[in-house]
Parts: sequence; C-alpha cells; structure tokens
Amino acid sequence: MTPHNEAKPGDYADTVLLPGDPLRARWIAENFLDDARQVNGIRNCLGFTGRWKGRAVSVQATGMGQPSTAIYVHELLDSYGVKNLIRVGTCGGLHERVRVRDLVIAISAATDSTMNNLFSPFTYAPFADYDLLSTAVELARKRKLKSHVASVVSSDIFYVPEGAKSYGELPAHNVLAVEMEAAAIYTLAARFNARALAICTMTDCLVTGQEIAPKERETSLVEMVELALDTGCRF
Ligand code: HPA
Repeated sequence: MTPHNEAKPGDYADTVLLPGDPLRARWIAENFLDDARQVNGIRNCLGFTGRWKGRAVSVQATGMGQPSTAIYVHELLDSYGVKNLIRVGTCGGLHERVRVRDLVIAISAATDSTMNNLFSPFTYAPFADYDLLSTAVELARKRKLKSHVASVVSSDIFYVPEGAKSYGELPAHNVLAVEMEAAAIYTLAARFNARALAICTMTDCLVTGQEIAPKERETSLVEMVELALDTGCRF
C-alpha cells in the first residue's frame, strides 16, 4: 500500500507493462492476460496482474508525462520490488525514415525534464536495459516488425509551437521520436537496479504530418503488446 497504489505486497509480478492510459491497461489485461485481476484502482490509474503463456505478468497505467509516471514507477520499484518494466506507448516521429506504425525501441531517452538533473552538474543519459533491448530487437526481427533501435526524447511538452523544428538538432543526432515517459522510467530503473525498456508505435509524424489510420491503430498495438509480453516473460 502506497499513497497511489492499494495493491498488497506480492500483488505485482516481476514484469510490469506500462501503458500511459488506464483504459489501455484494462484492454491489455482483458485481451492478453489469463485470469487477470485488478490490483490497483486509486485515481482510476488501473493496475492488473494475470498470466501470459503461463507466466505471471502485470500491467500498470502511468498517466501521461514524467511526473505522473515517476510516481507509479518509483512505488512499483521501491514498495513492490518489481524487476522488469516495459513501457508500451505511442510516439511522434521526428525523422522521415520512421514511418507511421513503425516501432521505436528506445535505446536511450534525452529529456527536457528537470526531474532528470539528478542534482549534479553532469547531463545524465537515461538508457535502456541491454538484455530487454536485445531480446525485443531479436523478437521484432523474427516477426518482421518494422522497428528502429533509436534514441527518443521524453518531453514535458506535448503542444510544441513549431513541430519537429522544436526539437532543434536532436533529430540530426539520431533522436528519431518524441514521447513523454521513457527517460523517467530509465532513470528510476537504474536507481533501483531494475531493467527497463520503452517500445513505442509511431502514430503521428511531426515532419510529414502523416497520422496512423484508426483501423491500423489496433493492429499495431496488438503487435507491440505481444512483443513486450514475450520480451518481459524471458526474464
Ligand atoms: N508528442 C509527444 N508524445 C507523443 C506524440 C507527440 O507528438 N505522439 C505520440 N506521443
């Protein structure tokens, strides 16, 4: 029990998928997990635990943005001893070579968030867990999913005034997509000696204006969730 989570010790599995949207957490629990039961409902930030191919796995919504995400992730790591965190989300494309529906597997996450200053003169570089990353890449290639291993930027600002231009030189430094949560998850996982990875479907390209078609959205999400579950259950 924490200020934001009513789950009891042992209610979360070692591996937790992290969508932003509580209704997506429920959708994952209902459509992918066997015997799923709700473990958290505080603020409707829903969490569930069930089984995927016989292995215990949980899904916990984070809300949008790093401050909200960091609360749930900190408590999962500190109070519930979670070991493997996999964000499943969407991202905006910052480079023409990432097409709508492509997966971006985030090897690192730049950020404009002050949360990541770590009270230090150095710029900390939040990074993915190598074992989760290499497993996800191997499985994605086997499934012929179009994926990019690239840096993302986890921004605190959704409505940027100048589209891709707002991200300055980042796209020229292989930062191929923008989302809002990965950096906080990576930093906290490092702090608690846990594994973390963010897998995101590109849904809207800030360079070309291309957007995912509504009927493609569900197919893409299914592929991403199955990839995340199969990756997480290897650990
Ligand atoms: N910005 C931030 N996060 C996102 C975006 C975006 O354009 N698209 C999907 N997630």
